[in-house]
Amino acid sequence: MQTIIEPFRIKSVEPIYFTTPEERKAILKRAFYNPFLIKAKDVIIDLLTDSGTSAMSSNQWAGMMQGDESYAGSNSFFRFEKRIKNLTSMPKVIPTHQGRAAEKILFSIIGGKGKYIVSNTLFDTTRANIECSGAEGIDMLCEEGKHPSIPAPFKGNMDVSALKQFIKEKGSESISLCIITVTNNSGGGQPVSMQNIREVKEVCREHHIPLFIDACRFAENCYFIKLREEGFAERSVSSIATELFSYADGCTMSAKKDAFANIGGFLAMHDEELALQCRNLLIITEGFPTYGGLAGRDLEAIAIGLEEVMDENYLAYRIRSIEYLTQKLIAGGVPVMQPAGGHAVYLDAKDFLRHIPVHQYPGQALAAALYVEGGIRSVEIGSLMFGKYDCNGKLIPATMELVRLAIPRRVYTQSHIDYVAEVILKVFENREEIRGLRIIEEAPVLRHFTARFEWAEPAASLAY
Ligand SMILES: Cc1ncc(COP(=O)(O)O)c(C=O)c1O
Repeated sequence: MQTIIEPFRIKSVEPIYFTTPEERKAILKRAFYNPFLIKAKDVIIDLLTDSGTSAMSSNQWAGMMQGDESYAGSNSFFRFEKRIKNLTSMPKVIPTHQGRAAEKILFSIIGGKGKYIVSNTLFDTTRANIECSGAEGIDMLCEEGKHPSIPAPFKGNMDVSALKQFIKEKGSESISLCIITVTNNSGGGQPVSMQNIREVKEVCREHHIPLFIDACRFAENCYFIKLREEGFAERSVSSIATELFSYADGCTMSAKKDAFANIGGFLAMHDEELALQCRNLLIITEGFPTYGGLAGRDLEAIAIGLEEVMDENYLAYRIRSIEYLTQKLIAGGVPVMQPAGGHAVYLDAKDFLRHIPVHQYPGQALAAALYVEGGIRSVEIGSLMFGKYDCNGKLIPATMELVRLAIPRRVYTQSHIDYVAEVILKVFENREEIRGLRIIEEAPVLRHFTARFEWAEPAASLAY
């Protein structure tokens, strides 16, 4: 059959509340033009994030009833640990309440002033935790990953020559870790090839630099490897995952993504000494090492989710549903990141809104327009999230100005996605009506979550 259907039936539903464009204009103004500050009930289709927003399966809900809430040594922890050991072959498994808690612990130990952490692209919380420790995070994305409209199979790859050059310049002793993000969330949800991971591993091995995987979306990445990389078509996703983790010394994971959990994360590694240090810090910040900030029922949901995500019918549907929306937008001439990524569709806001200069945050302006037009909540991934100021207070822009429409797992149906496409096409038609935004208030770190804006030029009669 040509049609790839949702490989599940819906047993429990939540209502969506509808608003008019006029109501949404007022809501957006009250939220200072920042989608993070809009109440969820005022959103029609919520594509802010795929993190923690999955629909859990009946098996996961059943597992939650089995959650063993013992403070120490709970059965749920041992099921969780066994599943992660099976997946990663890493003997040390440390639960955390979400991905950034794993990052905080890891970088507090291996970061620090004068240290570098290198990556294909660090996610915003990863970078913030590195910088918070005093270390510097360095992105080394391959050239093709920096051009949204040029399709290539593995645009998440790390630039291996840049890595070698960096090691030559700074010396391997100053590089405490290399971390590869799969898939590359900040770079369009694009996958990393097995070949690239092997090559990076080789360089790291030669220079004694540990290699970690930021594994939030490992299953989506492995499915792309199966589809796109020579020699993997006949392999199971599970065996591809085993190989992928075999090159790593450790991993961080937010279980809110590919484990279909609403909360949770973990650190896993081979190094016993590092694990001991991590556990010592875990006890201060998260909890006892057999629960690490999670309830026993969350550990159960994660263990089951990590099995379910390997189902190739699910992964085929998942990857196809992102591709479906991407193709509809391409057919309508909308500039999008190509090819489709694993968990989200990324609009190229710089190209979409050529009349808005980068310092007026075209991505944020586009996210605002999508909300007014159709009640769709999205997120800017551009100079608001990653821009920096120079010593004169001038914005140093990010490499790309993207708007991410992240699709929650197993939540929306095809008609929801058709609606999203219709809204984006309408906004594209009216794009000249969109104005730039000016920041009126911002936090010193991770400013995109709470920054407040106003329109750069007031205008009474425009659509947005
Ligand atoms: C690639 C990547 N790493 C780390 C994180 C942080 O995970 P959490 O939100 O669970 O703290 C995220 C979250 O979106 C992510 O996408």
